[in-house]
Amino acid sequence: MKTENLQCRHNRASLICVRNLCACYSASGVQENKILQNVNFDLFAGECLGLVGESGSGKSTIARVLVGAPVSHTGTIWYAPDAGKSRLEFCRWVQLITQSPHTALDPMWTVFKTLKEPLQIHRKISREGVRDEVENLLAAVHLSKDVMGRKPAELSGGQKQRIAVARALAVRPRVLICDEIISALDSCVRHEILELLQSLRASRGLTLLFISHDIPAVEFLSDRIIMLEDGRIRTFRGESKWSARS
Ligand SMILES: Nc1ncnc2c1ncn2[C@@H]1O[C@H](COP(=O)(O)OP(=O)(O)OP(=O)(O)O)[C@@H](O)[C@H]1O
Ligand SMILES: [Mg+2]
Repeated sequence: MKTENLQCRHNRASLICVRNLCACYSASGVQENKILQNVNFDLFAGECLGLVGESGSGKSTIARVLVGAPVSHTGTIWYAPDAGKSRLEFCRWVQLITQSPHTALDPMWTVFKTLKEPLQIHRKISREGVRDEVENLLAAVHLSKDVMGRKPAELSGGQKQRIAVARALAVRPRVLICDEIISALDSCVRHEILELLQSLRASRGLTLLFISHDIPAVEFLSDRIIMLEDGRIRTFRGESKWSARS
């Protein structure tokens, strides 16, 4: 985790400030491939910030850098003090959900085991309390407790993605980064997941970074939208919702 003492000059509380972020992947140590170039943005408390851009523009790289994955980068990322000082605290504070519901879950684990693990590791829920808490998480993502004994192969794509959301919620994160989490789903299930995110945002006070190719979906959920093009922020729409036509 990289936290530096960067002051953000604005009225709203920032949870994450990104300044002059450059990132690259080393190609066999021979040549460095610059992916992000001087990226600047803030993620404000309580908002949903949309991040759009063509395939390969660097959206997932931003997500990886923000959660502390090992991507070589320079620049400054400031996290609000409640992100904590330890890796464990930081993992609780920000959760990343990725695109594929099929690979995100351990195929050998039941839904119960998948949700039990973060509850016991991060929230120290007792063995007796775990079942109730797993049921609460399933209710939060609008799934019946009947799925508890199933493994991923016995769930639909939409159900798997709901379990991935429930697993992220299990640690009570402040920030949720959703990287293309609806792109593998059909349009009806996509809308259900969007509605779910919107209701969770309101009920749990979540702050969202919502990454997607799907402009209508980003417009539906986001307060502000930034666009990444070839590793740079090209368009930055401020307070109002962005229109794809403008
Ligand atoms: N581990 C890696 N090693 C080398 N290059 C990588 C690695 N991961 C991604 N890249 C390259 O970095 C660039 C940005 O990738 P990234 O996954 O951030 O794009 P993206 O905007 O999320 O694309 P998509 O919309 O397809 O998910 C791409 O050119 C990609 O090939
Ligand atoms: Mg991506």
